[in-house]
Amino acid sequence: MTETQGGSPSRRALLGWGGAGLALGAAVAGGAVAMAEAGDDLDPAADAGGAVEFHGAHQAGIATPVQDRLHFAAFDVKTDDRDAFVQLLKDWTAAARRMTAGKAVGEGAYGGLAEAPPDDTGEALGLKPNRLTLTLGFGPSLFERFGLADRRPAALADLPRFPGDNLDRSRTGGDLCVQACADDPQVAVHAIRNLARIGFGTVAIRWSQLGFGKTSSTTPDAQTPRNLMGFKDGTRNIAGTETGRLKKYVWVEESDTDARSAWMTGGSYLVARRIRMNIETWDRTSLQEQEDVFGRDKREGAPVGKAKEHDAPFLKAMKPDAHVRLAHPDSNDGVTILRRGYSFTDGTDGLGRLDAGLFFLAYQRDVRKGFIPLQRRLSAKDALNEYIQHVGSAVFAVPPGVRDSHDWWGRTLFSEEA
Ligand code: HEM
Repeated sequence: MTETQGGSPSRRALLGWGGAGLALGAAVAGGAVAMAEAGDDLDPAADAGGAVEFHGAHQAGIATPVQDRLHFAAFDVKTDDRDAFVQLLKDWTAAARRMTAGKAVGEGAYGGLAEAPPDDTGEALGLKPNRLTLTLGFGPSLFERFGLADRRPAALADLPRFPGDNLDRSRTGGDLCVQACADDPQVAVHAIRNLARIGFGTVAIRWSQLGFGKTSSTTPDAQTPRNLMGFKDGTRNIAGTETGRLKKYVWVEESDTDARSAWMTGGSYLVARRIRMNIETWDRTSLQEQEDVFGRDKREGAPVGKAKEHDAPFLKAMKPDAHVRLAHPDSNDGVTILRRGYSFTDGTDGLGRLDAGLFFLAYQRDVRKGFIPLQRRLSAKDALNEYIQHVGSAVFAVPPGVRDSHDWWGRTLFSEEA
């Protein structure tokens, strides 16, 4: 850990401060040792299963198996000090490394100095890692800061306004994002909360989204989850084991990059869309119409005219405006994205309707060749449009993985070293 965590001092740093150090007197000398031990003692779950490796060529949380819960947060930068921001990225990396291993942040949630706030907020103590993954992305607006204008990749394209968009500014955009996925919501929320806490003064949460119920699968052998419209979702997705398709459609290759974007090699681009469903209208729609809208049946998830979910779809058997027919790669010159979305329900809208839908997350090698052409087509023609509305939107460049214990999130963007 470093001495400061994005403006909020760690207890070790506090020890160095004259007043506090003096007042604490002799107790401090032994206290530092006790704290180090306390930090390690606070890892009852560290050895337990369910931890996803944090280090690697690619960030976890993209091709790794989809967990049950999501807490997604978009942040705005609150400083012009590049060094302070880089320090935050290093502090976040250190905290993420610990949390994904099931360990408490810094020196833990208790057992340290009574006079200082603990490094960790404590609500994940005793919980297993629950396959927590933390995935960091940089939004287009970040490149207007810190002298990064000539490092913005062309593939991180601004999304055009699509027909039917009704975007809420307070749920749109962001200088950076963290996608936290875990099988326990408390673990995911704890992770975002602690990153936000570390970032106090340097970044602030712009908007966030909780998700329950994955709506896509990257593990095709597992049962395909259902979305809030009751249909199996994620049947035809890119599986985490399909290295060939991941290479082709998801990971940025060196050959994709130029001087602006070389730092993105091994990364990916993320589009996030908060898509509200008109649940009440959908629930009064006939089964036939519902099945026509997708071009698949509700029970099995089989394409029209086929018996099984994984049977190859015969697109011409579907209605011309069926969602699957329009979204299928064969209708889009091969365009293919990796979907990793979650259902959400955020209470009611004050008009007696649920504020519910799909928090759509999609990874691709280039936004101009993935989401944008696909959504142009869907927004113009999809039968599903009668039942949904896109109300939030953001796009992020997700840098390559953190290689090892010396590496940090975003190093390839901010540091000249290879
Ligand atoms: C609330 C909004 C949406 C719902 C409820 C929804 C639901 C579904 C369902 C049930 C399927 C069929 C099963 C499957 O293959 O996964 C599907 C397929 C698909 N959807 Fe969506 N979807 C939504 C929005 C979108 C958006 C915004 C995009 C992209 C811009 C998209 C792209 C796709 C693709 C690429 C497929 C696979 C098509 C194939 O290869 O057969 N979906 N969706």
